[in-house]
Amino acid sequence: MRYGYFDDNAREYVITRPDTPLPWINYLGNQGFFSLISNTCGGYAFYRDAKLRRITRFRYNNVPHDDGGRCFYICDGDTVWSPAYLPAQTALDSYRCRHGLGYSVFEGRKRDVEAVLTVMVPMDAVCELQKLVLTNTSDAEKTLTVYGAVEWCLWNAVDDSTNFQRNWNTGEVEIEGSTVYHKTEYRERRNHYAFYSVNAPVSGFDTDRDTFLGRFRGWREPAAVENRTSYQSRCSGWAPMAALRLTVTLAPGESKTYLFRLGYAENPQEEKFSAPGVINKTRAHALLNAYETAEQFDAALTELKTYWTDLLQRFTVKSSEEKLDRMVNVWNQYQCMVTFNMSRSASYYESGMGRGMGFRDSCQDLLGFVHLIPERARERIIDIASIQFSDGSTYHQYQPLDKRGNADVGSGFNDDPLWLVACTCAYIREAGDFTILDEPTPFNNEKGSEQPLLEHLRRSVNFTMTHCGPHGLPLIGRADWNDCLNLNCFSHTPGESFQTCSNFESGKAESVFIAGMFVRYGKEYAELITRLGLMDEAKDVLDAVSRIETAVTTHGWDGAWFRRAYDAFERPVGSVLNDEGQIFIEPQGFCVMAGIGGREYGEKALASAERYLGNRFGLEILHPCYTSYRDYLGEISSYPPGYKENGSVFCHNNPWVTLAYCTLGDGNGAFDLYTRNAPAYIEDESDVHRTEPYCYSQTIAGRDAQNFGEAKNSWLTGTAAWSFVAVSQGILGIRPDYDGLRIRPCLPDAMDGFTAGRVFRGVRYEITVRRGEQKGLVADGRPVTGDLAPLSDGPVSKITVTI
Ligand code: BGC
Ligand code: NOJ
Repeated sequence: MRYGYFDDNAREYVITRPDTPLPWINYLGNQGFFSLISNTCGGYAFYRDAKLRRITRFRYNNVPHDDGGRCFYICDGDTVWSPAYLPAQTALDSYRCRHGLGYSVFEGRKRDVEAVLTVMVPMDAVCELQKLVLTNTSDAEKTLTVYGAVEWCLWNAVDDSTNFQRNWNTGEVEIEGSTVYHKTEYRERRNHYAFYSVNAPVSGFDTDRDTFLGRFRGWREPAAVENRTSYQSRCSGWAPMAALRLTVTLAPGESKTYLFRLGYAENPQEEKFSAPGVINKTRAHALLNAYETAEQFDAALTELKTYWTDLLQRFTVKSSEEKLDRMVNVWNQYQCMVTFNMSRSASYYESGMGRGMGFRDSCQDLLGFVHLIPERARERIIDIASIQFSDGSTYHQYQPLDKRGNADVGSGFNDDPLWLVACTCAYIREAGDFTILDEPTPFNNEKGSEQPLLEHLRRSVNFTMTHCGPHGLPLIGRADWNDCLNLNCFSHTPGESFQTCSNFESGKAESVFIAGMFVRYGKEYAELITRLGLMDEAKDVLDAVSRIETAVTTHGWDGAWFRRAYDAFERPVGSVLNDEGQIFIEPQGFCVMAGIGGREYGEKALASAERYLGNRFGLEILHPCYTSYRDYLGEISSYPPGYKENGSVFCHNNPWVTLAYCTLGDGNGAFDLYTRNAPAYIEDESDVHRTEPYCYSQTIAGRDAQNFGEAKNSWLTGTAAWSFVAVSQGILGIRPDYDGLRIRPCLPDAMDGFTAGRVFRGVRYEITVRRGEQKGLVADGRPVTGDLAPLSDGPVSKITVTI
C-alpha cells in the first residue's frame, strides 16, 4: 500500500494523507541553518550543530509522536485547523504534503479556506522561511484568526532536556513589533540569538509557553487559540516560545500571503548590545528585510530549485527502469547530500545530542557525494583527517561546531583509518586534484603537528600493517565497520557502552572484514603513490596486501564463504563451526570486491550469501541470528533476533554485495539485489516498510523478527552513499578514474542500455550504452581500446559504449 506518489517532473514526493506509518520527513538547509520537517510540519531547526545550537525544541519520545514543531492554527468560526493536520488534528477536507528538494509544501483545505504553506531554508541565509497563502473559496467574506508558533530550545539540546533546575530560570525574550527574539543566556556568554517574525502587524503575541497553552493542554488545543486571543505574555524563565497572532479578513475569492521567518544571528562580542541588556538586532533586521515580501520568498525558492537542477545535472540517467532513474536522478543523490551534511547527527532517530560526525561514516558518505560538490568534499576530508592521531589511529567522531575529536567515545575502531584512504582516493579520481595530498593537516587538531595529508594516509595504511593478529589478519580493536562486533569487551554491566568498554584487550581478535578493506584500499593507496613516483613504498604496501590476502585465503575462508573474524580466544566467527552467526554479509561483499580468491571464491561466497541471508528485501547481516547474549561477541548478540546488527537487512552493506556481483560481471545478480531495497522499488509496500519511500533506512527487520520487513532509522545511513556508488559505478558502470571516466556497465538482461549525462572535471560526458555486436567504446567518434573515456577538452564529450 502507498501513502503518496512520486512526481518525477517536480522532483517531489507527494504524500496524500497525514497518517503515514511514521513521520515522513524532509531536510531543509545546506550549509549552516538546518531544519527537519515532517509531513505534518513537525520537526526542529538548528544552526550547524544539532546538539550545541538547537533553535527549536523537539521531544523524541513524545506522545503523540512528532507533536510541536511549526504550529499553525487557522480559526474559522468554531473550527480550528492546521494546514498540515498537526497540531490541531482537525480532519481536513483535503491534505497534501509535497516534499521537494530543500523545501516542503503543505496544502490543506477546510470549510472553503485553502492554505498553502511552503517551508524552505534559502540558499545563503541563516533562516527558515514559511510562506502561508490563505484563500477564501467561499462566496462570503471570512475573518480568520491565524497563529504561527514555535517553541525555543535553550540552545544546548542535551542540557535543555536534562538541567531543569537551572533552565526554568534562564529563559528570556525580547519583543519588537511582529518579531519575538529568543535571547536565553545572551546576557552572559552567548553571542547568538534567534527570532520568529511575520511580515504583517500582529493582533497579539505570546512568548511564555505555559500561558499560551494553558494548564493541562498541549499543542492540539492551546488556551489562547481556543479563546481566539493572545495574552501578550513575556516569558521570564520557564519555556520561552513565540506565538504570533494575525487577524485575516478575506473577501470571497481573495488570497492573502504571509511570510513567517525563523532566523538565527550572531553578533561580534563588542557589538552584542544596542543598549544595556538589549540585543543589537541589526543582523536580524537585515535578514528580515531580505525576506519581507512574497516576491523575495519566491525568488529564493526559484534560486533553490535552480541550484538543485544544476547540481543534479552532474549525474543523470535515462533508462527503461523508471524507478532506477528516479532513485539515481533525484532521491538517492539528495539523500547523499543529506548524509554529507548530517553524518549521523540529527534525524528523527539520531537525536543530534549524541554522535556528531562519524569518522568512518563521513568518509563513506563522501563516496556518494564527491561528484556533486568536490570542493566541499575536499574541505571535509581535511576536517576528518585532523582528528586522526599521529600513530594512524583516530577519534571515532567529532562535533561539527568545534570539529574536535570526541573524547568520550575515543578511538580504537580499527577500520576507521582505511576509510580515509578510500575517500581521499575517490576525491582525487573525481577532481583530479593531487594538491590535496600536500595540504598541511594536523594530528588530533594540535597546532604545530601539521603534516601533508599524504602522511595521514600513509599512517592509516601503516596502522593496519602493524596491527595484525595471530592469523596475520588485522586486529579488530573495539569494533570494525560493525560497531556491535565487540570482541575485546566482555560486558556485564547494564547500560555500559559496548563500544567504549574494552575491558579485555586480547591483542588477538582479528577482522576478516578489515583484511578485505586493506586489500582493496591498500591497492588503491599503492596505485596513488605510484603516480607520485614512490615506487619503493608502493612495493612495500603491495607486499603487505598480498600477505593479508594470503591470510584471508588461508584463515578467512570457511569452505563456502568468507569468515567474519577471530575472537579474543582465536576462535572463528562466521563459520560453520559456530552454532549461530555462521555467515556474515560484510566479508562476502568486501572480499569479493577486493578480488580475494578470484572468481571461484567470489561466486561461492555470493551464492552462500544469497542462500543463507537472502530475503525479499535484500541480504540479512548474519545467519542464524544469535538467540542469546554472548559476552565474547558483544552488542551484536544484545539485539533480539532479526533486528539491527543481529540479523536485519542492514542496508548499508547490501550495495557492497551489489558491487561484488559487478566485480564478477553478474548484472542480473547486481540488479536483483539493488531493486530489493531501493526505496522506489518497494513503495507499494509502504505499510510494511513504514519509513519514507524516497530514502533509504538503516535497517529492515529480518525474517526472525516479529515485524519482518519493517524498516528503521531512515535517512542517516551509509546506505545512501554506497547505493549510489553501486548503481552509478557498478550497474551503470560510470566510474571516475585518474585519467578519465571509466565506463563498464554491468546491466541485467532486463535492460538493453541507457543514456546518461555525467559532468566530470568540467566536461559534460553524454553517454549512450547499448547492446550490439561491435563491442567497445567510441569517444567523440574515435574508437578507444578498453573502457576509459579519455579526459576531454570539453565542454561536451559524446561517448557510445556497445556491450
Ligand atoms: C548501536 C548500534 C549502531 C551503532 C552505530 C551503537 O551504539 O547500538 O546498533 O549501529 O551504535 O554506531
Ligand atoms: C551505524 C554506524 O553509524 C556505522 O558507523 C556502523 O558502521 C554501522 N552502524 C554498523 O554497525
